[in-house]
Amino acid sequence: RFPVCTGSAASMDNMGMKRGIVIKDDWPGYSLDLFTYPEHYHEDIESVYIPHGVIMNRIERLARYILDDFTENIMVLCVLKGGYKFCADLVEFIKVQGRNSNKYLETRVEFIRLKSYVNDQSTQELHIIGSRDLSFLCGKSVLIVEAMVDTGKTMKALLKHVETFQPKMVKVAGLLVKRVPTMTESLTDYVGFEIPNRFVVGYALDYNEYFRDLNHICVISSTGKLKYKI
Ligand code: HPA
Ligand code: MG
Repeated sequence: RFPVCTGSAASMDNMGMKRGIVIKDDWPGYSLDLFTYPEHYHEDIESVYIPHGVIMNRIERLARYILDDFTENIMVLCVLKGGYKFCADLVEFIKVQGRNSNKYLETRVEFIRLKSYVNDQSTQELHIIGSRDLSFLCGKSVLIVEAMVDTGKTMKALLKHVETFQPKMVKVAGLLVKRVPTMTESLTDYVGFEIPNRFVVGYALDYNEYFRDLNHICVISSTGKLKYKI
């Protein structure tokens, strides 16, 4: 059932900056036996969809793209809660590569909290449920860091909100972008992975607040969905 190498995971010809690493619809993920993960989730996940190491390698590459594009200090806007790991790792790679290439750009991180999902379904309303005054974004180069972009509705609303503070430039980094039929124009400048329209957890992405402590991005099992349903 499970492939034993990465050969069919991503299509090479579609790799690129705009779509990121494209994961095909028929990619089942890796067998759980091939990796380690928290014991308490052993019934709750079906497969390892993107291993933690691959996530890290891809983020390192995104950091390089970002360093090449930005010319001044970066105001990072981390979208909580799902974006906290991606943001921490991305900023770290931006710093390390900045030091290694003599283009050290200062990063300042601010947080914004949104919520739109209950169980594995998107709700209609977007709630900005935690944000400090963002007026310091005025005239600055802003990088929005979001773990998951699916319909793009949330990102569109957030971009509109950020624009009201009149930043000089706004770019969006999205670790995962879902291939959904309703997806309009791409709002994401730096895409980690383009994935099929399915629900994934781990690396800070949750299902009703569970699975954030899983390092790999995984596919949740039906047992897991039931167990943590609200
Ligand atoms: N996983 C977790 N949170 C999400 C997802 C997902 O696939 N899509 C939107 N929010
Ligand atoms: Mg969530």
